[in-house]
Amino acid sequence: MSRLRVACVGTGFIAGQHLGALSGFDDVEVVAVADAVPERAEAASIRCGARPYADGLALLEEEELDAVWLCVPPFAHGPLETAAVARGLPFFVEKPLALALDTARTVARQVAACGLVTAVGYHWRHLEVVQQAADMLRETPAQLVSGYWLDKTPRVPWWTFRSGSDGQVIEQTTHIFDLARLLVGEVDSVSALEHAVTPETGRDGEVPTAATALLAFTSGAVGSISSARVLGWRHLVGLHLVAEGRALEVSERGLTDHELRVVSGTGEEQLVRSEQDPVAREDREFLDVLLGQAPRVRVPYEEGLRTHALACAADRSAREGIPVRLDTAARAAAEPFHE
Ligand SMILES: NC(=O)c1ccc[n+]([C@@H]2O[C@H](COP(=O)([O-])OP(=O)(O)OC[C@H]3O[C@@H](n4cnc5c(N)ncnc54)[C@H](O)[C@@H]3O)[C@@H](O)[C@H]2O)c1
Repeated sequence: MSRLRVACVGTGFIAGQHLGALSGFDDVEVVAVADAVPERAEAASIRCGARPYADGLALLEEEELDAVWLCVPPFAHGPLETAAVARGLPFFVEKPLALALDTARTVARQVAACGLVTAVGYHWRHLEVVQQAADMLRETPAQLVSGYWLDKTPRVPWWTFRSGSDGQVIEQTTHIFDLARLLVGEVDSVSALEHAVTPETGRDGEVPTAATALLAFTSGAVGSISSARVLGWRHLVGLHLVAEGRALEVSERGLTDHELRVVSGTGEEQLVRSEQDPVAREDREFLDVLLGQAPRVRVPYEEGLRTHALACAADRSAREGIPVRLDTAARAAAEPFHE
């Protein structure tokens, strides 16, 4: 059987999840890995039986590939995507798409111009519990939305700097903004506040320690999505939705640990636990599209861009102290993006 030749740029935490999934597929061969820290590329190359590179652009230049996974931190996006597009190479990219919205918009134009197959790592969309929530909300749409990412500060060195991650709203809570777009639809405007780092807070880094965004959805639903990074543990990560006669909550304890809680009617409660690996599922879907065995990916680059634009709008509103209206491109799909 001929196998798809793939590579991965960035060999940190999330790359490990993707490489683990890819190594388990018998129609895929991981032929090369790259990391700016050469020892990490070496270590990953030994685990996967792949060639190591200290430079992702050199990898893209030298290897014959069918697809590449881009698992680098937010600050490293742009040149890798542009190089992949120039080679006509389909790519899977982790969220967030970039630091600056303009970088992602430029890549989106390049991708659209050559019709490249792409996928973005908004893995919640691959969960059956999310599909179930979407089905229920199609019958009775959400009217009130409350989202949260209340957690510890991640320990990777780039995370607490604007120039590294752009902060929690862009880097983590983007998953919740994406889920809200999927389940409730597009957002017209956002008004946000943040708790900035000051010498008194004694917190590391420079990105805000807490933020909250008030959202007006095109459907008429209203809601808020909040972030905090000052706990010593992952406290609450999820989206709570109130519809006529029904309350739902989708939450995540870890990459493969999700649940859907539904309360309806007379207060009867239903709890559905998911043990699916959504990272393996998003990788498989992307590969199946490349093989002609699936019609489309759930989150191509332009769809990921709409979510990134929303998270960037929330961040900008908090920084500048002004309400931000989403432009028409970000609101292009006026209907909720149900699967
Ligand atoms: N979908 C998810 O739930 C999920 C979970 C975790 C991380 N992520 C995303 O994945 C990205 C990476 O996060 P992580 O936790 O794996 O970080 P990490 O720090 O563990 O790994 C990133 C790796 O990229 C390398 N790197 C940096 N710049 C590079 C470049 N220009 N070329 C090649 N390698 C480079 C670093 O040396 C590091 O080894 C982030 O954008 C993060 O938001 C997504």
